[in-house]
Amino acid sequence: MITEKQVFEQEKKFMVPVYKRIPVCFVKGAGIKLWDINGKEYLDFFGQGVNGIGHCHPMLVKAIAEQANKLIHFSNLYYTIPQVELAKKLSEVSFGGKVFFANSGAEANEAAIKLARIYGQEGSPRRRYEIITTTGSFHGRTLATLSATGQEKIHKGFEPLVQGFKYVPFNDLEQVEKAITPSTCAILVEPIQGEGGVNVATLDYLKGLRKLCDEQKILLILDEVQTGLGRCGKMFGYEHYEIIPDIITLAKWLGSGVPIGAMLAKPQIADLFLPGSHASTFGGNPLACATTLAVINVIIEENLVENARENGQYLMARLSELKYSYIKEVRGKGLMVGMELEFPGGPIVEACLQEGLIVNCTVEKVLRFLPPLIVTKQDIDRAIEILNKVLKFR
Ligand SMILES: Cc1ncc(COP(=O)(O)O)c(C=O)c1O
Repeated sequence: MITEKQVFEQEKKFMVPVYKRIPVCFVKGAGIKLWDINGKEYLDFFGQGVNGIGHCHPMLVKAIAEQANKLIHFSNLYYTIPQVELAKKLSEVSFGGKVFFANSGAEANEAAIKLARIYGQEGSPRRRYEIITTTGSFHGRTLATLSATGQEKIHKGFEPLVQGFKYVPFNDLEQVEKAITPSTCAILVEPIQGEGGVNVATLDYLKGLRKLCDEQKILLILDEVQTGLGRCGKMFGYEHYEIIPDIITLAKWLGSGVPIGAMLAKPQIADLFLPGSHASTFGGNPLACATTLAVINVIIEENLVENARENGQYLMARLSELKYSYIKEVRGKGLMVGMELEFPGGPIVEACLQEGLIVNCTVEKVLRFLPPLIVTKQDIDRAIEILNKVLKFR
């Protein structure tokens, strides 16, 4: 069998070095637990916002195996059953939108950006193409989505950027109002900025954006790649805000580890895309769709949205009990929680890893907790115990 050392060496020798890897190689997962190549066990509060129903959930494994035995892939120029079933399900659990399937969050956002530009040409005396996004946002790594992302470090080296994006501060309605011009066709925003440090949109902000968009006939696009599918204690982040967006984008949790992305748009907007406007070879293939259907069924049957709400509150409460002077704030919704520190969180992440707890750190100083929706209070207690031990000796 390959050794840990050989894995590290082969990665260095044969892979493009775009990832700053942490020297642990995972070989197995079950529920909230992971095991590395040396047999060490970890508690996964990192998940990268992906393993929504936990690692290798039996229903997920079953759905993959069953579909793999029937049909793994065929062309989008033909019909396949899991695709239409998943589209129906997503439409029913959301605002009744129509779906375009992609393979990632960036691709889902690309679809939304293209649809917004098409919308900008419709019935408009002049071409509207500008999309307003926020500073600190993250929308992906393709050229259009990195251009939409309001972070200079993501742009660096890739200029000239795709034109037509304007950045305004997050949670600042007045600045959005000022930024709107006759060329604006959409506003793209995350209900909670994930990579930006778990910054939660206020109720007034998102309601205000909805009102502005209605008045100006601008699309409101919510990037729910991190917040969607139960993560925030509701099926979708927008449900916290008493609004219906025009478009949402989903990925990460959607396939609980199997790559899939989706854009959902209100039917009258979705129908502006015509055959040939957009496409994806793998987008919505039978394997990914059958798996995702199983994920949504598990979320509903196991009451995981309610679990995210309840245990999210418990996680926030337990984190808030940690009274160290250098903790600036604990914030979030449901199971998307951030803890802002006064200093870089890298060493804390490393020390937690040594103790068997995997967490992430964004924007240098915000520890981010994204456990799977199946997390229990006992898991949270164990994570807090480890975190407390690490923070105490800091
Ligand atoms: C809010 C948001 N949008 C889009 C993306 C891009 O998703 P992907 O990496 O699947 O392209 C991410 C990834 O972290 C994200 O957090």
